[in-house]
Amino acid sequence: MQNRCWVNSRVSVVSLFFLAVFSCLPGQLSSAVVTLHSIKIYVTHDWFKTKPTIYFHCQGENKTILPDVKEKNVLYTFKGEESWQPLTELESKKCKRCGIYDEDLFGADDTFDEWELCPADFTEPDGNYTRFKEKEFNATFFCPECSSLVGGQPPPAVLDSNLEEKKFPYAVVILSSVAASTFVIVALIFGYKYWLKRKRQQEQARFLQLFEESDEIEDELGLHHVV
Ligand SMILES: *[C@@H]1O[C@H](CO)[C@@H](O)[C@H](O)[C@H]1NC(C)=O
Ligand SMILES: *[C@@H]1O[C@H](CO)[C@@H](O)[C@H](O)[C@H]1NC(C)=O
Repeated sequence: MQNRCWVNSRVSVVSLFFLAVFSCLPGQLSSAVVTLHSIKIYVTHDWFKTKPTIYFHCQGENKTILPDVKEKNVLYTFKGEESWQPLTELESKKCKRCGIYDEDLFGADDTFDEWELCPADFTEPDGNYTRFKEKEFNATFFCPECSSLVGGQPPPAVLDSNLEEKKFPYAVVILSSVAASTFVIVALIFGYKYWLKRKRQQEQARFLQLFEESDEIEDELGLHHVV
């Protein structure tokens, strides 16, 4: 019984180790934040306002007002840490319908552009994506984790140039397999030694117990002689 318990705990230690190794492999992210890196607008749409209210918006989400963007033809750059960042979060390979708009005092807001924001658009390895629309705006978005959302399925045209990068995960897999096997072997050796030790101790205990029992019997016999 004890031995089985011990084997079970070893097995769970080994599986924990495997879990730890494989959860560290790249390509397992579940979401990636998108921040605005820079923007320049070439027009404003509302005739009644002296300063425009520019905002970014993805369908089904809240508007993100860009509080600093007030002037035409000025390049605004951001660190990604501003209070209104990030703009949105991409959860899978799927795109989101997003856009940049100009809030209108009267009637519907004006659209600079509306497009599909896709994780695949962010270039590796820097994670930048530039959206440019003539006479409207030029914006650069930043999402370093987006490439891992797309995860190992680059479009066929990029396959050849990606060969160098693809070697890396293989090396990680091989290294971690070697590490895991070594761990299992070491664990088995230690386990076997431990088991031998336990067995020896149990045998010794049983032996001592036998001695004590025969001593007791002799004592009793001796007493009987005296009486
Ligand atoms: C949108 O804003 C409201 C109120 O400001 C907030 O309660 C809600 O959680 C926001 N939704 C998202 C998706 O951020
Ligand atoms: C748009 O902005 C980016 C970053 O500032 C710049 O590298 C790029 O050349 C610009 N593109 C155009 C067409 O102005």
